[in-house]
Amino acid sequence: MSKLNTLSHDVSLQKLNTFGIAAQAKLFLPIIDLAQLSALRDDVSLRQMPRLILGGGSNLVLSDRVDALVLHMCLHGRQLTAEDDDFYYVTAAAGENWHAFVQWTLSQGWPGLENLSLIPGTVGAAPIQNIGAYGVEIQDVFHELQAFDFETGEVVVMNKKACAFAYRDSIFKQQLRDRMVILNVSFALPKCWMPKLAYADVDKWLLQANIEKPDASDVSRAIIAIRQAKLPDPQVIGNAGSFFKNPVVSATIRHALLGNHPTLVSYLQPSGDYKLAAGWLIEQAGWKGRNLGAAGVYEKQALVLVNRGHATGADVRALADQIRADVFKQFAVELDIEPNFY
Ligand code: FAD
Ligand code: EPU
Repeated sequence: MSKLNTLSHDVSLQKLNTFGIAAQAKLFLPIIDLAQLSALRDDVSLRQMPRLILGGGSNLVLSDRVDALVLHMCLHGRQLTAEDDDFYYVTAAAGENWHAFVQWTLSQGWPGLENLSLIPGTVGAAPIQNIGAYGVEIQDVFHELQAFDFETGEVVVMNKKACAFAYRDSIFKQQLRDRMVILNVSFALPKCWMPKLAYADVDKWLLQANIEKPDASDVSRAIIAIRQAKLPDPQVIGNAGSFFKNPVVSATIRHALLGNHPTLVSYLQPSGDYKLAAGWLIEQAGWKGRNLGAAGVYEKQALVLVNRGHATGADVRALADQIRADVFKQFAVELDIEPNFY
């Protein structure tokens, strides 16, 4: 039992989730090594408990009482594990802070993660929803990961195909939800690097800064500045980033919507479908800057729901349900929720 001697009861999670919801965990264990996971699995009652694998808590909506065993991922370490003619292979442990890891790779001269600068949370959570921003998703730079399988007790290596990455989705949000504890993630960072500047905002920032040939650190600085201008800082206003995914619809549906709403914002996808800007739909439905109880819609970005002070998970859910209903009524488009509820 000694490997589990840091197990605690009734632990506050308020400082461990970026929404700032005052949740209490029934059981809480900081994970600092693999042996603890094996020991947990050997304990029949702990093995059967519902689990919440907790990283930085930046994509969660918690209930007041989280009736689960919360495993707080505190595994640390990062290194260059290999290189070949084309790539640097860089590995980081699950508990490493994502943004600090991105900045470290850039400082080492290994570009490739710069478009994903300033995304909150941990390295271990990055594959869960295949984090993405400004034209890059982690599947574009992902090599493999190691995970502890709670069902078999084994450590498995999973490649890109096994992770079934999709837009804000992976196998870890579907069939393997709460079963795999990601221990570390490896990235293949290209030696022949080209900046990814498909987003107009990024181009505009670089132009204003008089940077004609940006290196990866310039792109990172641009993205940090754009994000800071648009998104609320969770240290100041509780939130979990985008609350809904941008819905993808067929060209026919988009065409019909454009007929009634000529300013509709949409982006052509490689499949021929269109991604609609959910922030635009929510703004048009009249929700930007509005509140319902203690939860609200951020005034600068309608896709972000915020904690106006003392919001509970139920307050956030009630607001999200109302927004979904209003958007559906006006546009007949379903909004899917991005964060995970526990
Ligand atoms: P948590 O919130 O702790 O957990 C999220 C999910 O992952 C949970 O289901 C949890 O059980 C699971 N999980 C966590 N760690 C592990 C592990 N080691 N093994 C197995 N499962 C695990 N996301 C984007 O994609 N793009 C953005 O641009 C973006 N911007 C954001 C901006 C703000 C201001 C905020 C607050 C959030 C933003 N997000 C964005 C969402 C969030 O930052 C990411 O989803 C991030 O990867 C979550 O990391 P975390 O460590 O906080 O995960
Ligand atoms: N828009 C509005 N009103 C709003 C907000 C947005 O009309 O209040 C319209 C504007 O036309 C704007 C467009 O929507 O140009 C897109 O907005 P933005 O560039 O802010 O991006 P987003 O689609 O809202 C997505 C991701 C973000 C990611 C950014 C940059 C999703 C669900 N969200 O947001 O990811 O950082 O693009 O790539 O895909 C997250 O997942 O948590 C997240 C923050």
